[in-house]
Amino acid sequence: MLSDAFDRRFSYLRLSVTEVCNFRCDYCLPEGTDCGPESRADDLTLPEIRRLVAGFASLGMRKIRLTGGEPSLRRDLTDIIALCKSTPGIDTVAVTTNGYRLPKDIDAWHRAGLDALNVSIDSLDHARFQMITGHDSLQTILRGLDRAAELGMARIKVNSVLMKHYNEDSLDDFLELVRHRPFTLRLIELMQTGDNDAFFQRHHLSGDAVIQRLNQEGWQERLRERSAGPAREFWHPDYVGGIGVIMPYSKDFCASCNRLRVSSHGELFLCLFADQHQSLRHCLQTDDPEPLRVFLQTAIQGKAYSHHLHQQNPGATRHLAMIGG
Ligand code: 5AD
Ligand code: SF4
Repeated sequence: MLSDAFDRRFSYLRLSVTEVCNFRCDYCLPEGTDCGPESRADDLTLPEIRRLVAGFASLGMRKIRLTGGEPSLRRDLTDIIALCKSTPGIDTVAVTTNGYRLPKDIDAWHRAGLDALNVSIDSLDHARFQMITGHDSLQTILRGLDRAAELGMARIKVNSVLMKHYNEDSLDDFLELVRHRPFTLRLIELMQTGDNDAFFQRHHLSGDAVIQRLNQEGWQERLRERSAGPAREFWHPDYVGGIGVIMPYSKDFCASCNRLRVSSHGELFLCLFADQHQSLRHCLQTDDPEPLRVFLQTAIQGKAYSHHLHQQNPGATRHLAMIGG
């Protein structure tokens, strides 16, 4: 099992399959995708992904999340899901998507073995959704989510970034969404990245106020297991769905870190906000997993205890489309 100098164990890989995104969320890619012309051409190939996933799985990685950019912009995403699912050792395959292709693709993803789905929706108001993302596709996305539920997918999450002026008054709408649907609503504090400084200063909203309201309205917090990851989870007897709050600025947020990330160009991100990243692509050129295993076991010792966001230092991360959050 991969573990670091602080005895944290890593069973969860977040693999970005492309930096490209067709949305232009204000806090992420306000000018649209500007990842450079090389960004798509250089994406990891299917054989490279196969070797990567097999190597990680041989070191105890159990869960893989495919992210982007927008992962469904890769034509072979269904094949990637199937490949991950058939790798010995992998028990959970998840996708994080902006959801615009969901109604078209979810059946195929489900057949390929998708276990868990995260869809980003920052507002349930059509006009505001369009203002934030640049796309009038809320209806399509909601339709796709309902289809996923209809297929019996048990692990569906809706990610929503908390933002002053944009959605701080929308908690009631979001609670309605999970009253009768088996979704988990994930409320995520806006994080500062290299490119969103001014936006961050204007719109960052602490999750404390949300938690206070949840407590007042009878939501109860679940006890967390060691391997549970960083969200604080809440449940309510009157709601089918649940809520998770992610507060990256809270004390000890990084203590339970259980994840590693690899970019679509094959760089290992030891942290979302690390200063530099090492490429592991040279280890993916043959079927021998040993070079990758040695690389990872050495690299993991360099993982820092925490991010440096409190010092306004987002490291080398310009925006999360580089690595998928
Ligand atoms: N802060 C918090 N969340 C972000 N996301 C993208 N950029 C940021 C940011 N700066 C979210 C997206 C998506 C997930 C992958 O990350 O909304 O839900
Ligand atoms: Fe695309 Fe996600 Fe970034 Fe929005 S937050 S621009 S959907 S990568």
